[in-house]
Amino acid sequence: MARLHAAAFAPERGWHPEEFAALLAQPFTQMHSTPEGFALARSLAGESELLTLAVDPARQGRGVGAALVARWLETIGTDTAFLEVAADNAAAIALYERSGFLEAGRRRAYYSRPDSAPVDAIIMKRDLTKGNTG
Ligand SMILES: CC(C)(COP(=O)(O)OP(=O)(O)OC[C@H]1O[C@@H](n2cnc3c(N)ncnc32)[C@H](O)[C@@H]1OP(=O)(O)O)[C@@H](O)C(=O)NCCC(=O)NCCS
Repeated sequence: MARLHAAAFAPERGWHPEEFAALLAQPFTQMHSTPEGFALARSLAGESELLTLAVDPARQGRGVGAALVARWLETIGTDTAFLEVAADNAAAIALYERSGFLEAGRRRAYYSRPDSAPVDAIIMKRDLTKGNTG
């Protein structure tokens, strides 16, 4: 997971194996994976947060990310799903919009960038209550 995550997020720092181990040891963490990628989420008190989503760079653009998000949404059983995404991550934002997420807020200048000004974090939400699951 750490290797794939580092490759997907390069040149940013990937998460360490110990960080994945600690998250996976927590009772509220769910993982969905294929050989090409994985999604990690945490579900608690009626809400589920997508903690990270990574697809092998050599396998991107083939529907893996969309399938992982769909699997997360199908299995969580909570009323709301949310996530944070960097405002300059056009591919991920497009995926989440196609998956029914809407912008719900912003954290200004949240992600630092080595060669440019910090970038906002966009908080995106999807209501999963009855009648809004399509
Ligand atoms: C974001 C990421 C998970 C997408 O995974 P993927 O398997 O390549 O995505 P999919 O092939 O399932 O594409 C699903 C939709 O996402 C959008 N999308 C994916 N790649 C895109 C790109 N390069 N540019 C624009 N839109 C893109 C499209 O809307 C696409 O639907 P379409 O193919 O019908 O147009 C992948 O690019 C990745 O791992 N990126 C690095 C890590 C990252 O940014 N994770 C998310 C952090 S919040």
